[in-house]
Amino acid sequence: MARTFFVGGNFKMNGSKESIQTIVENLNKADLPSNVEVVLGPPAPYLAWTVEHNKQKTVSVSAQNCYDKVSGAYTGEISPVSLLDLGVPWVILGHSERRTIFKESDEFIAGKTKFALEQGLKVILCIGETYEEKQAGKTLEVCTRQLKAVTDLVKDWKDIVIAYEPVWAIGTGLAATADDAQEIHHQIREYLATAIGAEQAEATRILYGGSANAKNAGSFKDKVDVDGFLVGGASLKPEFVEIIKSRQ
Ligand code: G3P
Repeated sequence: MARTFFVGGNFKMNGSKESIQTIVENLNKADLPSNVEVVLGPPAPYLAWTVEHNKQKTVSVSAQNCYDKVSGAYTGEISPVSLLDLGVPWVILGHSERRTIFKESDEFIAGKTKFALEQGLKVILCIGETYEEKQAGKTLEVCTRQLKAVTDLVKDWKDIVIAYEPVWAIGTGLAATADDAQEIHHQIREYLATAIGAEQAEATRILYGGSANAKNAGSFKDKVDVDGFLVGGASLKPEFVEIIKSRQ
């Protein structure tokens, strides 16, 4: 089946009103392909600013995290309802930095995913192994453990996009090879078929993330189970447009 190519930009804790306006204006001026879904993930303080300045119909906005409550005494947290109120339809959940720095468990991330979907958000669900886990041959074991926490709770996956982000490739300039990414993406899709059914597994987009950039994006072009990218550093640069166009 044809899955719409998807390119997300995760700005992480980077940017200012001025720099994010420049990124958005660059995108507004670009001749973007109509068959590529683009999502921009600015830091939370700039979500409304990004929604306001975006003029491209194929571009929407994502938060980088949210909580599993609608409202209440949860200082510093972000409600999924607030995101929808701002016109933000996406949220990134389970990023490796949330898992390692902020100690978010598979179960906590799964509960947030379920709750965000129930509130009407779409979710970019991040999974991926550490260097040590890769060296120990545990890549698939780790990815399926992280996915199982969610497939145990969520059976309707139409609003979930998976981002496979090997931790050892994030921010290192050492992206996985396209062949290696294709192999793990295929295995992820095979696991999904057992957990949520073949039809949903076939329809679920699986992105690659981890030092994706304009130089290497083209090498993934013929990888049938790589449906796009979740880009960090390169999403802050003009080359982000080339990544969006890399499937043409
Ligand atoms: O969420 C995407 C991010 O983790 C990848 O970062 O800088 O390696 O593209 P980067």
